[in-house]
Amino acid sequence: DRVAILGVPMDLGAGRRGVDMGPSALRYARLLEGLEALGFWVEDLGDVRVPLAETLRRRGGMAYLEEIRQAALELKERLRALPEGVFPIVLGGDHSLSMGSVSGVARGRVGVLWVDAHADFNTPETSPSGNIHGMPLAVLSGLGHPRLVEAFAAVDPKDIVLIGVRSVDPGEARLLREQGVKVYTMHEVDRLGVARIAEEALAHLEGLSLHVSLDADVLDPALAPGVGTPVPGGLSYREAHLLMEILAESGRVKSLDLVEVNPVLDERNRTAEMMVGLALSLLGKRIL
Ligand code: ARG
Ligand code: MN
Ligand code: MN
Ligand code: MN
Repeated sequence: DRVAILGVPMDLGAGRRGVDMGPSALRYARLLEGLEALGFWVEDLGDVRVPLAETLRRRGGMAYLEEIRQAALELKERLRALPEGVFPIVLGGDHSLSMGSVSGVARGRVGVLWVDAHADFNTPETSPSGNIHGMPLAVLSGLGHPRLVEAFAAVDPKDIVLIGVRSVDPGEARLLREQGVKVYTMHEVDRLGVARIAEEALAHLEGLSLHVSLDADVLDPALAPGVGTPVPGGLSYREAHLLMEILAESGRVKSLDLVEVNPVLDERNRTAEMMVGLALSLLGKRIL
């Protein structure tokens, strides 16, 4: 089986600098070697071109809209060009890149598992920050800035499942309800457990191929301090691995994003190492 790695060194959608170094940190944490040890034939396709923030002028509101759009479009095209059957792993970079990854892998209908402390379902109207990494899931659903929606709308909001959520803005919560997005907050993680949630999510997305978008901030910040928007009370090491293992057993996951790893805020690359471990569990690594 084949895996393709593609980096998106972008921090333009985030409110603070540093996630542009995420792809390097994930490579340094030996993602490629880990996948090869599992028996995959792995090709690193390098990085999508993203302009450095220092070379741009930051305008208020939807900052860097055109630059983010361009980088996500390049990602989308590069994923489209991959032969069928190759499993892409996209290394971020801030979560705005997932506009390109999900729309790039969506051949017909796709189910999206968005594993994140945040819902990333803001529009320019509901966003308290104006940061585009808080908006990609809404854009993919057809809501938000028209320049982004026309380029990336690709999923039915009813084909989205959010897991691990614990920070939602007021307007965002209303949109999620209106659009019928399935949301498992940390409250449900505590009540039902991750195994039950994973099984329900797979049943909810019955018959669909799946894309997993894994935001490092879904993990508890004690475990994954290298993120720009930490929120207390996240997934434990064991919950996160169990979730990946059950999704792996389904055999339906066809693509993955690893996003929001910020090496500037990390401790000895442990957040990148956690994310690599989770990717390997999702691709079939087992204890025995
Ligand atoms: N909801 C907040 C916002 O829209 C935070 C979003 C954080 N998103 C992320 N991908 N880390 O500004
Ligand atoms: Mn996110
Ligand atoms: Mn997040
Ligand atoms: Mn962030």
